[in-house]
Amino acid sequence: MAKNKNNQAIWNKRIKKNSSLLFQEIGSSINVDKRLFKEDIKGSLVHVEMLSKQKIISLKTKNKIIKGLKKIEKEIFQKKFIFSKKYEDIHMNIEKRLFKLIGDDAGFIHTARSRNDQVITDFKLWIKSANSQLDKKLTKLIKTILKIANNNIQTIMPGFTHLKNAQPVSLAHYLLAYVEMFERDKKRLLNNLENLNENPLGAAALSGTSFNIDRLFTTKKLGFTKPTNNSIDTVADRDFVLDFLYTVSVCSLHISRIAEELIIWNSDGFDLIFLSDKVVTGSSIMPQKKNPDPLEYLRGKAGGTFGNLFSMLTILKGLPLSYFKDLQDDKEIVFKSFDTLDSCLSILNEVLNNFKPNKLKMLKLANKGFVTATDLADYLVKNHGQSFRKAYQTTAIIVNYAEKSKIKLNELSLKELQKIEPNLKSNVLNIFDLKNSINSKKSFGGTSFNNIKKMIKKYKKIYK
Ligand code: ARG
Repeated sequence: MAKNKNNQAIWNKRIKKNSSLLFQEIGSSINVDKRLFKEDIKGSLVHVEMLSKQKIISLKTKNKIIKGLKKIEKEIFQKKFIFSKKYEDIHMNIEKRLFKLIGDDAGFIHTARSRNDQVITDFKLWIKSANSQLDKKLTKLIKTILKIANNNIQTIMPGFTHLKNAQPVSLAHYLLAYVEMFERDKKRLLNNLENLNENPLGAAALSGTSFNIDRLFTTKKLGFTKPTNNSIDTVADRDFVLDFLYTVSVCSLHISRIAEELIIWNSDGFDLIFLSDKVVTGSSIMPQKKNPDPLEYLRGKAGGTFGNLFSMLTILKGLPLSYFKDLQDDKEIVFKSFDTLDSCLSILNEVLNNFKPNKLKMLKLANKGFVTATDLADYLVKNHGQSFRKAYQTTAIIVNYAEKSKIKLNELSLKELQKIEPNLKSNVLNIFDLKNSINSKKSFGGTSFNNIKKMIKKYKKIYK
């Protein structure tokens, strides 16, 4: 329960009895929201600057409060500050300490504001910096992927659909697909800034305030771009929380996809990559084992971040306006999602720096499954005037023949091919070459080596 300098609840004149110990326990969020201390102090500093500028509090009081707040910040950084459950949350813990440090002048700090607008101000500022930390980690990850892609432009592997060999691709092209996903994650973080940049401070409890405050001043000083429009919506709104949780969920989904991909490639059945000893674990009974545990950890963690998004959606569903205690859980949910993604991004980066493609095996696998069949169909369209559907049929007959004869398409002789399609010329044999196939995919965004080189160059300019 929040108390003033006399160790009394701030509301002790109105509420005569101490709240039940049970309620004190569940009502306190300090163990979670103490992570907002920097933002809370920043918000308060700007708030009292504004109050003094508007002559709502005296210069003397303002200076006293500022000195006190700075001291509190120092105490917290130096781990000398005692966070107390008795004072509910970070806002009350700081206010209570301010009373201890500067006396009754501390009472002026809460003029023209409520914890309802205070907490969202803190939270938006916190999420903004979390956003930028995630963005930096994504940049680092993208740089790592670009480096590996650059070293593997000529590394040939099968591209899959339905996990069956489909068409040959470059490993670099495959990896660049993940660059696109992580780029979109960065875009989502950026897009979220639009809502995050609306300043809640000044909405007070829910209806605004009768004091002549200057919301444009606090907006500017706190690094927001505009004040929110409606005071009721302001204190009830947690859309910015949903945006963040969704963005984190999608990014962890991307991480779980690449993790699963690498787990499959690392399996003995596929054997397409080697993982260094730094990123595997052993078995307690099977001495031979090297298991891709960190990748499985990454794959699993998306479950938690999706759950967090759903928790928040469910808390908000059907909640009337405006503030309710239900909303207090938003912090724990966001902190958990942030911590998870923050560590997953580092772990994925570490794993990617510690794997090597098994180029021979990739090439060998690409030679299975008649992966150049589409190239033959395209050839028939281009050189023999066939419609694509007709060419598809002719190619299917050739594939059936090769399969029955237990040979690959590139092992067929011209004679054998001509038995099925008499007009074929000897240059058809070039079609079955994997490199030729890859290089022919020159359409924008396709896997040709040149396209990949250009794409890497483009990204390298952005990610110097
Ligand atoms: N710790 C509270 C929260 O995060 C702050 C807002 C309290 N407001 C109130 N009316 N009880 O939700």
